[in-house]
Amino acid sequence: MVGYLVMVILVVVITMGVLSPMGKLFGKFQNLLDKTNNMAKENLQGVRVVKSFNQEHNEEVRFDANSKELTDINIKIGYLFGILMPAFMLIGELAIAVSIIFVARNIVSDPTMLGALTSFVNYLMQIMNAIVMAGFMSMFAARGIESTKRIKEVMDTKPDLTFDANAAEEKLSGDVEFDHVSFAYPGDEHEVLKDVSFKVKQGEMIGLVGATGSGKSTLAQLIPRLYDPTDGVVEVGHENLKKVNEKSLRKAVAFVQQKAILFSGKISDNLKQGKFDADSADMKHAADMAQAAEFIEKYDDQYEHEVEERSANFSGGQKQRLSIARGVIGNPSVLILDDSTSALDARSEKLVQEALEADLPDTTKFVIAEKISSVIKADRIFVMQDGELIAAGTHRELVASSPVYREIYETQKHRR
Ligand SMILES: Nc1ncnc2c1ncn2[C@@H]1O[C@H](COP(=O)(O)OP(=O)(O)OP(=O)(O)O)[C@@H](O)[C@H]1O
Ligand SMILES: [Mg+2]
Repeated sequence: MVGYLVMVILVVVITMGVLSPMGKLFGKFQNLLDKTNNMAKENLQGVRVVKSFNQEHNEEVRFDANSKELTDINIKIGYLFGILMPAFMLIGELAIAVSIIFVARNIVSDPTMLGALTSFVNYLMQIMNAIVMAGFMSMFAARGIESTKRIKEVMDTKPDLTFDANAAEEKLSGDVEFDHVSFAYPGDEHEVLKDVSFKVKQGEMIGLVGATGSGKSTLAQLIPRLYDPTDGVVEVGHENLKKVNEKSLRKAVAFVQQKAILFSGKISDNLKQGKFDADSADMKHAADMAQAAEFIEKYDDQYEHEVEERSANFSGGQKQRLSIARGVIGNPSVLILDDSTSALDARSEKLVQEALEADLPDTTKFVIAEKISSVIKADRIFVMQDGELIAAGTHRELVASSPVYREIYETQKHRR
């Protein structure tokens, strides 16, 4: 009886003592595994950057350091398991040994004790097995609990932006209004947009210029409601975006992002992302506007041409043209081109703009550009500085009235 009690207490104490460091080790192990996987992914994706900056060795060292840490933790976990298993067994066997010694003394005087001893050891073995198993279970549980915590973390992450499921679908016009809009990225105190207000009428072309980091892309992202403003109201088609139907908004606003991202598949698959039921005439029309038809139609399989992973088989300018085509194909009420013609030669850029002007006269266009020449013909140009909209007007007006605009313009004039 004493042996049995001692055994139970020992197993429980050891398990308790080991459980929390074990949990910590497993947590660390999972984190490191994440980190190592990420590193491998980044290096494979950026393999050209790594090569061209001669970073193979450094990256290898970084990866090795991580792998070593991962290995060390794995070994530690292995050690723990390696010690625990024999320890549990030892305790069990010791308990049996102790009980035999105690009882065996009496066997000589009372041989009937032999039967009692045999069944006692038998029961003890069974109980011991159960307790050792319980010890192991709790170790596996430690691992399970750690994993569950991480799964819960992901599952519990609430999207901070939800659309009103009851809002009716409708066609939104191209009128866009910002009413005292301020914005800071989630988890960041710094205000990237500060009290921005403007009204844009359907069909207007708005140029958006300003130094890098002044908040142009951020402003653009609020129009398709990729983020909600921290303060103020954004309206498209005179509707507060917080109350608008998601489908209606996606149909109304096409956002051609600064970094052209295409998906592997076919050219037509990518264009259909802009209009799911697009037929070949739609595709040709959109590609014509974006000056993409000229190179697409050189392929034998034309619109069925394969887009490789990370669109590696297209040049920067071709990618931009394809993403413009994807933007215009749905005939949106609002089209945002975020630096979308930067990789195009001056002639193609001009042709794209003329086509947009001619074919999408009712579409409101926001053209974000580094070069003033890209927006010089806009109905109005907005000048951004440090998150503030500091001036708006036509090119002529701004040259006359805005020192910031004049300075950007002057520095670029000499480059041409
Ligand atoms: N996802 C993000 N999280 C936190 N801060 C961000 C994020 N994206 C941009 N910022 C910050 O917001 C500010 C404005 O960035 P934004 O991309 O809007 O500038 P931009 O005017 O478009 O610049 P560029 O001409 O270089 O494209 C910058 O200071 C930038 O560091
Ligand atoms: Mg930008």
